[in-house]
Amino acid sequence: MRSPKDFFAPLALGAPEPVREIPFRPSRMIHFFDPSNEKMRTKVPSIAPKVDVLLGNLEDAVSADNKEAARNGLVEVGKANDFGQTQLWTRINSLDSPWVLDDLITLVTEIGDKLDVIMVPKVEGAQDIHYVDRLLAQLEARAGLTKPLLVHAILETASGVANVEDIAGASPRMQGISLGPADLAASRRMKTTRVGGGHPGYLVRTDPTGDDVHEGRTTYQQDLWHYTVARMVDACAMHGILPYYGPFGDIKDVVGCEDQFRNAFLLGCVGTWTLHPVQIDIAKKVFSPAAEDVAWARRVIAAMGDGTGAVMIDGKMQDDATYKQCKVVAELADELAA
Ligand code: GLV
Ligand code: MG
Repeated sequence: MRSPKDFFAPLALGAPEPVREIPFRPSRMIHFFDPSNEKMRTKVPSIAPKVDVLLGNLEDAVSADNKEAARNGLVEVGKANDFGQTQLWTRINSLDSPWVLDDLITLVTEIGDKLDVIMVPKVEGAQDIHYVDRLLAQLEARAGLTKPLLVHAILETASGVANVEDIAGASPRMQGISLGPADLAASRRMKTTRVGGGHPGYLVRTDPTGDDVHEGRTTYQQDLWHYTVARMVDACAMHGILPYYGPFGDIKDVVGCEDQFRNAFLLGCVGTWTLHPVQIDIAKKVFSPAAEDVAWARRVIAAMGDGTGAVMIDGKMQDDATYKQCKVVAELADELAA
């Protein structure tokens, strides 16, 4: 199995097997819950087996009055449950908040053996990851933990985007990066008022034809997040870590949600956040390669033999580069099936 570190490793012919530091684990949906909410805590045993990652959220969407209850609620959930194959993550408060030090000290000390990944919000640059890295090393040593906690950054400030390559390579603990479209929109002073997804005003219009300047022209809505997701994917690929879409806040718009998730999947993301149970199946469907795509990929791989040269299949030219693309699809299917 591949680790996040070698997930994007070049598929060079004859290259030695990369060192497997961290086993690959599916993370198609990172399902958020509020541990300060008792009803949500009681649902954990039934929801955990349905998701790849369960995340106890301590940051935004948890009110200031509930920060301590959320932290203690997550400790309770971590101690009371065996998560099996499902990963347990947390999103701590931001590094400029009064809560983050207690978040890290309490969680690593109390349930450091149960947690897999610490998601750090509003990361501005590599210095934020270095700070968390050193703190984790101290807390892990004190708690006698043998498995290092991994770190995931949210890309949700203009300076974070400008520094994304440095963030991705800031520590061997780096597991991945998620887009945070809501905070990023505010940081960039975009004129939207929503969590992820598109906007009907962000469009291009076909050219006018003849006298008909206003009527009969088609508009196409554009993807507000294309640039950032593509940039994030490149930074993650360069450093061998995993890229993710983030939240899609219009829970009722399941069609728009699926489209947004699929754009991210096609561009290279391996998963997304899910904020409501209705989004879990959408994420599972989108971030698992479709059976027909896997069958096609295996056909190309079989036809390409040692992976060099060119063959025609159903009138389409295949060569070393399509072979590599097909290996990405087929290997992801194998890993998810393992
Ligand atoms: C997520 O945290 C976001 O701001 O979109
Ligand atoms: Mg945010």
